[in-house]
Amino acid sequence: MPDKGGNRRGDMYSEPKPRILFTRQEIEAAVKKLAAEIRRDYQGKCPLLIGVLKGSFMFMADLVRLLDLPLEVEFVGLSSYGRGTKSSGKVKVVQGLRSQVRGRDVLVIDDIVDTGLTVAFLLDYLRKKRPASLKLCALTDKPSRRQIPVTIDYLGFIVPDKFLVGYGLDWDEKFRNLPDICVLEGEG
Ligand code: PRP
Repeated sequence: MPDKGGNRRGDMYSEPKPRILFTRQEIEAAVKKLAAEIRRDYQGKCPLLIGVLKGSFMFMADLVRLLDLPLEVEFVGLSSYGRGTKSSGKVKVVQGLRSQVRGRDVLVIDDIVDTGLTVAFLLDYLRKKRPASLKLCALTDKPSRRQIPVTIDYLGFIVPDKFLVGYGLDWDEKFRNLPDICVLEGEG
């Protein structure tokens, strides 16, 4: 069984095939729309964008290039409750922040909100550091899988309960480099 992040050790000879769900052009349009919303809301501010590793790296790179604002970029690595502990709901920070959060306008950037456990943990962790504001931008949302309520302030796509890869999303660490968001046939 794949874990919630799908990082199953794959059989090289029977890897499932990705089928495009959102093309690179559709993603580009969605990222542009999100950037316009963020630009509008953060005028006169210098937000701290915190990407959740690893999945957000491509989204973050495309998004910040469209934000003609003063901003700072940071990444945080969170341990997954995936592999072997699917239902424990435990998340912890494994690669922490180097930036001060207190008093900053913090915008968390994630590629997907699935159960919500990862980002709910991170938002709670950041809230305790007393930022001036704290918002969430997610490229995709899979509400059918939600286990904990999460408010997504900036959202690209609502996605079906299918196993997704590409544009940062992986299967066993593979397919992150696909420029389109794809459904992995035969998974999920
Ligand atoms: C994925 C994704 C989100 C999280 C969402 O990360 O990037 O951060 O899972 O899942 P949740 O809403 O059920 O918590 P993953 O832990 O697979 O690591 P990765 O980003 O390195 O692929």
